[in-house]
Amino acid sequence: MLAGMKAYRAAILSFDPESGSPRYEADGLLLTVPGAAGPGSPRVVRAVGPFHELIRDYPGLAVEHLPDRLIAPGFVDLHVHYPQTDVIGSPAEGLLPWLERYTFPHEARFHDPSYAAGVAEFFLDELQRHGVTTALTFCTSHPQSVDALMRAARPRGLRLIAGKCLQDRHCPDGVRDATEQSLLDSEALIARWHGVGRLGYAITPRFAPSCTDAQLQGAGELAARHPGVWIQSHVAENLDEIRWVRELYPADRSYLSVYQRFGLLRERALYAHCLHLDAGDRALLRESGAAAAVCPTSNFFLGSGCFDFDLAARAGFRHGLASDVGGGTSFSPFKTMLSAYEAGRASFTGGGPAKAGVSLAPGRLWWLHTAGAARALGLEGLVGNLVPGAEADFIVLDPQATPLLARRTRQAASLDELLFALIVLGDERVVESTVAAGSVVD
Ligand code: GUN
Ligand code: FE
Repeated sequence: MLAGMKAYRAAILSFDPESGSPRYEADGLLLTVPGAAGPGSPRVVRAVGPFHELIRDYPGLAVEHLPDRLIAPGFVDLHVHYPQTDVIGSPAEGLLPWLERYTFPHEARFHDPSYAAGVAEFFLDELQRHGVTTALTFCTSHPQSVDALMRAARPRGLRLIAGKCLQDRHCPDGVRDATEQSLLDSEALIARWHGVGRLGYAITPRFAPSCTDAQLQGAGELAARHPGVWIQSHVAENLDEIRWVRELYPADRSYLSVYQRFGLLRERALYAHCLHLDAGDRALLRESGAAAAVCPTSNFFLGSGCFDFDLAARAGFRHGLASDVGGGTSFSPFKTMLSAYEAGRASFTGGGPAKAGVSLAPGRLWWLHTAGAARALGLEGLVGNLVPGAEADFIVLDPQATPLLARRTRQAASLDELLFALIVLGDERVVESTVAAGSVVD
């Protein structure tokens, strides 16, 4: 019964699987056990509960005591570009000039597998330092950029989902791919990496303007043949981009419906940004089961607009938080949660009429970056939460990591106040350790 069991005593944060409300054990016990699939399968959570109650069932169990620490689910980053690790902080006049001036030239370097391998290791170190244990990431158009990342991620036990960018037009030599070969490469990468350990593949049309009809058609067919594989792309981020899409696809009702026409809206399809949607688009997201990856630090940095959390919740489509590095300005889920709060408060939209702000509750912000994000990925109950049967991805947080945090969290009178102090003041200094599927990875 106790063979292979690990036990941790600390304060524990998890989420009610039905309502998504935060649950808190001030003096809790987390029990993890080896995965049922044998050696190499992810460790899983056996139980979470009040220490004094739960420990009675396990006399003699060795417990790792972490006084004054908070155990929380590992964060889930729904949209990030590993090749843009070195593009962070490149200023431009909005999305399209930023892509032309910095991003495409930089991504051309990933033609070189050893360059890609070096960035992959650095990127994964960053995820772990910031407490991210699941990420959906773009690679570049070079298949070797996917191989480099997957090879680096495999031994770390992270749940990493990634894919080769599809972009056969409107981008420069060095990053533009060839339609037919790009689809063959994607299919070969699915066969090589999807479902290997915790790795997954995502079919990755960069965005509608960078893909011909033939490439989007092929991507949709590939997605239909591989229903367990993810899809990732961008939509409705920037007003110039949207005007361009209207010129390129005059017959489609909206930017989002271009993807629908090619069979690219379904469960496990994640669309970054979703800023400038109308009611028809929101209904389409809900009905198709596709989800929005909300990237507030990127949206502020590039001046793209603010995601409407209120309309998203009312429309009932899945959404969660993402860093979007390098349009985003930080790998830190704390920075992203704070930025999401600020986006909710903002009473302006990207060029649209003023709207009333919302104050997202701290527990909701945290859910959107853990259990809610897992739900958007179709991995609810498996990652992003500490519930029996979930993979044992968790972080150990030190709420006293800085003098100001120590002072502020000491005065927190409720869970909401504690979580909000961490969201506003926290960064990687708070993340004492990151445990992916039960093995310490930093
Ligand atoms: N749209 C197409 N490509 C990109 C990208 O790399 N970053 C962002 N933020 N938007 C995009
Ligand atoms: Fe992006």
